[in-house]
Amino acid sequence: MENEINSKAKQENGEIEIRQMELDDLPACFAIGEDIFTAEKWPNLYRTWDEYELLDSYASDGELCLVAEIGGKIAGFALGTLIEKRRSAWIYGYLEWIGVRPDIKRSGVGTRLFKRLTELFIERGARMMLVDTEAENHEARQFFRKQGFGNETKHIFLNRNLTTHPGYLKRKASRQKLKKRQIKVPDVTQEANQ
Ligand SMILES: CC(C)(COP(=O)(O)OP(=O)(O)OC[C@H]1O[C@@H](n2cnc3c(N)ncnc32)[C@H](O)[C@@H]1OP(=O)(O)O)[C@@H](O)C(=O)NCCC(=O)NCCS
Repeated sequence: MENEINSKAKQENGEIEIRQMELDDLPACFAIGEDIFTAEKWPNLYRTWDEYELLDSYASDGELCLVAEIGGKIAGFALGTLIEKRRSAWIYGYLEWIGVRPDIKRSGVGTRLFKRLTELFIERGARMMLVDTEAENHEARQFFRKQGFGNETKHIFLNRNLTTHPGYLKRKASRQKLKKRQIKVPDVTQEANQ
């Protein structure tokens, strides 16, 4: 079955190689993420794709950061981490981000990345794997279901605008005062040149 899924990508692009992410892969992975994790599609701030997401994962969990390569080009990536809870014998493998280049989607790349990451989690003692995604991301939900995930639970995010909070306004006012004072500082070098 896996061979069947991957055959399309193989025919069009050669073999899919899954390997650990290397420093040189970061720009390509970042670019893929920018393409697919857009703010319009995922409008909450707790999961914003930026260079720190990638760098932090790579620096702290490098062995759980994978790339898929086809014909020498990065086709996708997966970033994982292990979560150990205090007073619990359980280790959780958390898939933080998985992304596949739009032009190569539905060719089995995501499945291959996912399977390798699962193996790595198990090798490191994980007993449970966690993923999360926005409720409207039906593509990802279908993908995770296909990988054997269930027990979907809902979690809601709320936001409050702090720019009318007295503390925010006080801070803003004091920063503006400071800015004005800085502007008033005479430029001694200009005076000396006149
Ligand atoms: C989710 C994602 C990683 C899947 O990668 P992929 O390489 O396209 O997935 P695969 O080809 O391995 O698909 C495996 C199975 O998942 C399901 N699936 C994948 N994409 C699907 C889609 N668009 N619609 C319905 N089912 C889908 C199918 O069951 C598929 O098997 P099939 O093709 O035999 O029917 C990819 O679509 C992606 O990068 N999405 C944007 C980023 C994202 O949402 N990431 C998840 C949250 S971090």
